Amino acid sequence: MKTIIELITDEFKKVFVECGYSEEYAKVTVSNRPDLCEFQCNGAMAAAKVYKKAPFMIADEIVDKMKELSMFEKIESVKPGFINITISPLFLSDYLNEMKKTDKFGYESREANKTVIVDYGGANAAKPLHVGHLRSAVIGESVKRINRYVGNKTIGDVHLGDWGLQMGLIIEELRDRKPDLVYFDDNYSGEYPSEPPFTISELEEIYPAASAKSKENEDFAKRAHESTLKLQSGDKSCTAIWKHIMNVSKADLKKNYDNLNVSFDLWKGESDAQPYIPDMVDKMIADGIAYESQGATVVDIAQETDSKELPPCIVRKSDGAALYATSDLATIVEREKLYQPDAYIYLADKRQELHFTQVFRTAKKAGIVRPGVEMTFLGFGTMNGKDGKPFKTRSGGVMRLEHLIEDIDNAVLEKIEENRSVSREEAEKTAKIVGLAALKYGDLSNQASKDYVFDIDRFASFEGNTGPYILYTIVRIKSILSKYDESGKDNKWGINPAIEASEKTLSLSLIKFSEVIESAYKEKAPHKICQYIYEVSNAFNGFYHNTKILAEPDEKQQAGYIALITLTKEILEQCIDLLAIECPDRM
Ligand code: ARG
Repeated sequence: MKTIIELITDEFKKVFVECGYSEEYAKVTVSNRPDLCEFQCNGAMAAAKVYKKAPFMIADEIVDKMKELSMFEKIESVKPGFINITISPLFLSDYLNEMKKTDKFGYESREANKTVIVDYGGANAAKPLHVGHLRSAVIGESVKRINRYVGNKTIGDVHLGDWGLQMGLIIEELRDRKPDLVYFDDNYSGEYPSEPPFTISELEEIYPAASAKSKENEDFAKRAHESTLKLQSGDKSCTAIWKHIMNVSKADLKKNYDNLNVSFDLWKGESDAQPYIPDMVDKMIADGIAYESQGATVVDIAQETDSKELPPCIVRKSDGAALYATSDLATIVEREKLYQPDAYIYLADKRQELHFTQVFRTAKKAGIVRPGVEMTFLGFGTMNGKDGKPFKTRSGGVMRLEHLIEDIDNAVLEKIEENRSVSREEAEKTAKIVGLAALKYGDLSNQASKDYVFDIDRFASFEGNTGPYILYTIVRIKSILSKYDESGKDNKWGINPAIEASEKTLSLSLIKFSEVIESAYKEKAPHKICQYIYEVSNAFNGFYHNTKILAEPDEKQQAGYIALITLTKEILEQCIDLLAIECPDRM
């Protein structure tokens, strides 16, 4: 479906051409003076210079020819040469009724059917998930859903950090704790046990202990490094322990991501890319792209237009150890082989910017990706505490994700308890859904690249631009609709032309759906959807406070209201789904 702006623009184009002006001046936008009009066309101002006429003469001429069009309630030319437009309520309600009937509320993607890989989550196996990984999961899930909604074949990959030093640290710590395990018996030649030698709680405790130990104990650090290298070169016992670590850790991560309502199509990791590394690096050397420098193998990536000097990308260290960039490049080799995506989107802390610049440029230079493939790094900012420093627990440690979620659920539960009308049990369930929404919305409503302050009281508030406020609005609509249903009336009418200003404001917010989706998609910006649902929610609440919906005596009028708020609910529900936020039935 064309947007309303496109429909109005089409009419303007016709008239501009009829009057002998180029159609390029027929540009219509949403008014920046909503107190004066709803839409505006400033084309006469620009055309005046070219056609050497006073702008208001052109504006008058255009308006004269458009006055009779039924799509406008009012169209006027205003000196020095603006055209102000107010659209007709009937045109608007017809449009809304059409949106209601059309798939995706009339949204048509201009570039569907691409294959897109979204690399997000990025948890490190065997290390506890902390709030640093929260943003990647939350923003990435939304970017993935938006891409899928517009019609792209979208593949989400968790890309686990599963090949690094943490593995050697865990292996060596395990050796110190349980030296009798068969994995550490050099003379053992049988099958290794299928039962893991640790539980998830032990594993969670082993890594921080080992990491701390390596900082004090040089010998231990060296052993961990050697074990990592042994694992990376295929040692049998290290590989057996690694598999246990991966199984136990993945099961736990899945649970954590499930709790966040985040799900991946692929559970690949850095380890999956390793088989591609030798050939990839050899080819780069053979092609003259990579060369030896101080024992390492590097690729120059600097470009003349760079404002500062960028260091080369190291693809192999002197000891042969796998590097972060090498893994990412080899992962691209695999993805090209398996999926041939048209676009790659990576989510990670914005401090990884240089890493991704190096990887993208090397991938292009070495021909690992086809030319024209779009590679985007979506770097996000830090979640800070109220003190403006990276968020910590009260005791100063790194906050575990599940504790953070617990805290916010409790804050929401307290709010619900203030005037609870459901059982305590239901309130607790609801608090979990709303708490997660509070957390996600608090994050997603900020532009991803910005740092933001995690403010539990603000996020959990039922007022203002918050997750609970949006959900409360949807719940309010659901409750009106179920009361209407209970009254046994059968709605055979659609949305009526708006009478009240608040009704028109709500209608005007609903018609923006397509544009919002398009720009959130193009700019990979979930916060645009948050801005939009906040606008729609405010518009709905304005309408609700002005209108007696359930007490309206005129059946057709009431049915029109019901149709309007049904569309409002459907649009809000679609939007929160794109943010991976769910809504309870009651709050
Ligand atoms: N595991 C990394 C980290 O914790 C994030 C991975 C981001 N994705 C990537 N393809 N490099 O920082």
